[in-house]
Amino acid sequence: MIEKQEVQEIFPTPLWIVDLKPAAAAALNIQLKAEIERLIAPRPVIPAGANWQTPQDLHTRPAFAEFVKLAEMAARGVTRFLQVDQYPMSITGCWANINPPGAYHPMHHHPNNYLSGVYYVSVPSPGSQIIFQDPRGQASMIMPKPRQYSKLTANAANAQSKEGRMVLFPSWLKHTVPSNDGNDERISIAFNFMFKNFTDAMAAPIWDPTAGKASS
Ligand SMILES: [Fe+2]
Repeated sequence: MIEKQEVQEIFPTPLWIVDLKPAAAAALNIQLKAEIERLIAPRPVIPAGANWQTPQDLHTRPAFAEFVKLAEMAARGVTRFLQVDQYPMSITGCWANINPPGAYHPMHHHPNNYLSGVYYVSVPSPGSQIIFQDPRGQASMIMPKPRQYSKLTANAANAQSKEGRMVLFPSWLKHTVPSNDGNDERISIAFNFMFKNFTDAMAAPIWDPTAGKASS
C-alpha cells in the first residue's frame, strides 16, 4: 500500500551561529569591552530593568574595525549560503548593549534591514540566551502539548549566548532577551546589514512580462 512516507520541512527559518576560537575571542573581547566602557562613561542613571546603549555608529569608528571585518565575513558567509552574494551589503547600524543584572530586551525585530546579528562580548554565569519567536503567528493557534517539544511543535527557539559567539538571523525574525540573572553585566554588540543598492538593483519587478505571450 504505502511505498514511502517522508517529512519535508518547508519554509525553514535559519540562524547562523559563528564561534570564534577561544583565544581570539578573549583578546578581541578585552579590547571591545574597554572601548564600550569608554563610550558609555559617564553612565547615565537608568530605570530598573533597562540597559545602556552606545551610539549606533560603532561600524564607523576605527576602534571597531576588526569587529566590523568579522561581522562582514560572517554576513558574506550567509549571503553565499543563500546564494544572494551577488548583491553587496553594508552595515547600517551597530551598537553595544550593556545589560546590568535584571535588565532585559522586550520582543522586537529590526525593520528596514535584511540581516541582523549579535555578538557576545561578556556573558556572566549562569549564562544567557536569546529567544526567537515562531514567525508563523497562526501556527500557534492549536498547540497540543507534545510528549516532547521539537522544532516542528515549539513556538519559540533559544540560541545560547556565549562569549565570542555571533548569532545572525533574518532581520524580520522577532526576538527577546530574558533578564540578566547573573551578578555581572552582559555586554553584546548588535548590528544590521542591508543591501547597498536595493532600489537600483533589486526592487524592480523580476518577472518577465513577455513570458507566455505569443509572438506577433
Ligand atoms: Fe535585536
